[in-house]
Amino acid sequence: MKPVLEGTAALVTGASSGIGAATAAALAAQGAAVALAARRVDRLDGLAAQIRGQGGTALVLECDVTQQDQAAAAVERTVAELGRLDTLVNNAGVMLLGPAAGAPLAEWQQMVDLNVLGLLYCAHAALPHLQRAAADGPRQVADMVNISSVAGRHARLGNGVYALTKFGVGAFSESLRQELAGQYVRVSLVEPGATATELASHNRPEILESLSSQFGQRMEADDIADAISYIVTRPRHVAVNEMLIRPTEQQR
Ligand SMILES: NC(=O)c1ccc[n+]([C@@H]2O[C@H](COP(=O)([O-])OP(=O)(O)OC[C@H]3O[C@@H](n4cnc5c(N)ncnc54)[C@H](OP(=O)(O)O)[C@@H]3O)[C@@H](O)[C@H]2O)c1
Repeated sequence: MKPVLEGTAALVTGASSGIGAATAAALAAQGAAVALAARRVDRLDGLAAQIRGQGGTALVLECDVTQQDQAAAAVERTVAELGRLDTLVNNAGVMLLGPAAGAPLAEWQQMVDLNVLGLLYCAHAALPHLQRAAADGPRQVADMVNISSVAGRHARLGNGVYALTKFGVGAFSESLRQELAGQYVRVSLVEPGATATELASHNRPEILESLSSQFGQRMEADDIADAISYIVTRPRHVAVNEMLIRPTEQQR
């Protein structure tokens, strides 16, 4: 049987680790040519070699999506080298936790720059290509999948600015979904709970220490990639608008 995403091209931001890397591999397994964007090129090269080894097509894009010109260039290179853009997975993100009082402002800036502005820069650059893919592409439908979090629905003590960024991703996604529904550009929001990736490791040591006592059951990056893969392989008339996914034991 022909793979569902054969003939399509996908761009995954934050593809050098965790959920992004697993998602790129999953979309390649469904037949998509995948563009892998992140700052750590050695990691992207490794993943690209793995995808090519399995007969897939992968393009490595060194890119800091907080820089508007680099985000736009990543989209344009995807289209130039893979011929089109049918799927954008806006995944790159950072989670820096802790009390608001006395927090380093640089951490807040980093989260807003990446989780909000980086996502917006990629979305803005990708939109005309997604609209074109939906109008005349092989599947007559295109996808933007934005990665939020349980924190995009529930603010908790110590996650205020991270939650702010993810609530924002949810608001933008829902508005854009309404704008593009009639054009068959589907906009989906994925809200993972605790997942074993590098995400928490970027916190300050004292925050990490307090976090480690809270770690319970965690999902694997592949579990979230599986959900994203499900979303973008639905038939043209089915749009999965939102998916909240927790490890079974996670209560909050
Ligand atoms: N893990 C969880 O429990 C969890 C739960 C809910 C939501 N999420 C969300 O899932 C998404 C992926 O996170 P993850 O858990 O897979 O964490 P991760 O392993 O830390 O992956 C984050 C990715 O973002 C990339 N990135 C960071 N800064 C970047 C920049 N300026 N430009 C381009 N790429 C950048 C990183 O690559 P480079 O460093 O190479 O640039 C990396 O590939 C995030 O949006 C996160 O908020 C995760």
